[in-house]
Amino acid sequence: MSSTTKTRWTEEELKKISEKYEGKGPEDVLRWALGEFSPNITLACSFGAEDVVLVDMLVKIKPDANIFYLDTDVFFKETYDVRDRLIEKYHILPVKFSSPLSLEEQAEKYGDKLWEKDPSLCCKIRKIEPLTKALEDRDAWITGIRREQAPTRANTAIIEWDKKFKLVKINPIAGWKTKDVWDYITKNNVPYNVLHDKNYPSIGCEPCTRPVAEGEDPRAGRWAGFKKTECGLHDEG
Ligand code: ADX
Ligand code: SF4
Repeated sequence: MSSTTKTRWTEEELKKISEKYEGKGPEDVLRWALGEFSPNITLACSFGAEDVVLVDMLVKIKPDANIFYLDTDVFFKETYDVRDRLIEKYHILPVKFSSPLSLEEQAEKYGDKLWEKDPSLCCKIRKIEPLTKALEDRDAWITGIRREQAPTRANTAIIEWDKKFKLVKINPIAGWKTKDVWDYITKNNVPYNVLHDKNYPSIGCEPCTRPVAEGEDPRAGRWAGFKKTECGLHDEG
């Protein structure tokens, strides 16, 4: 990429800016990104531990920052609870994106419990297509991915060109460890999903998430029994 219609920076320049922000605070990254891309920048919020941290940081910098979530219609009740607690505390208005296909229509078309038979197709319908919609008129999106989370995320830059969705991707806490996330939540009294206290370090849809055992990989509870480790939001497939 030499230049894009979504940013005045080339991919190489974004790499340099990203390197400059290594070791700086996520708030500095957010301030740069908001200055550069507002109002066409949005935070992808799954209501997991990383994302509640980003909501707290973002709202402290820009109270009316744009936040969205992909509602697959099969979230845990606890996930909707933390959404509501965040709305109450920060007066945010997270925008919901979801599949035009209801669960009933999906079952009719592809059979019951598609997530058991073809989770990639289910993620495509319930996450990727709604995400494509959420990002279509944006120049940049902010995510809570961290390098430590998975080998597929080990090379995540703080600021990068998202080849798949074709816009700038900002990962302010890419370099954070789990402890950094929880220290921030505790120190700032950020509402979080109570399932995290019940051995769910990584939370997705209810049918595809189970608690993990002591010593297990934190993402072992996601799509357990399948080779799948990513739903397509953050890989290039
Ligand atoms: S996933 O790809 O395996 O589902 P994960 O749960 O680790 O992703 O979340 C990584 C980041 O993807 C989150 O920090 C968030 O930015 C974004 N994300 C994941 N799920 C959603 C969702 N349902 N709605 C909005 N953003 C999401
Ligand atoms: Fe479907 Fe599971 Fe993907 Fe959710 S995580 S969209 S239920 S396959």
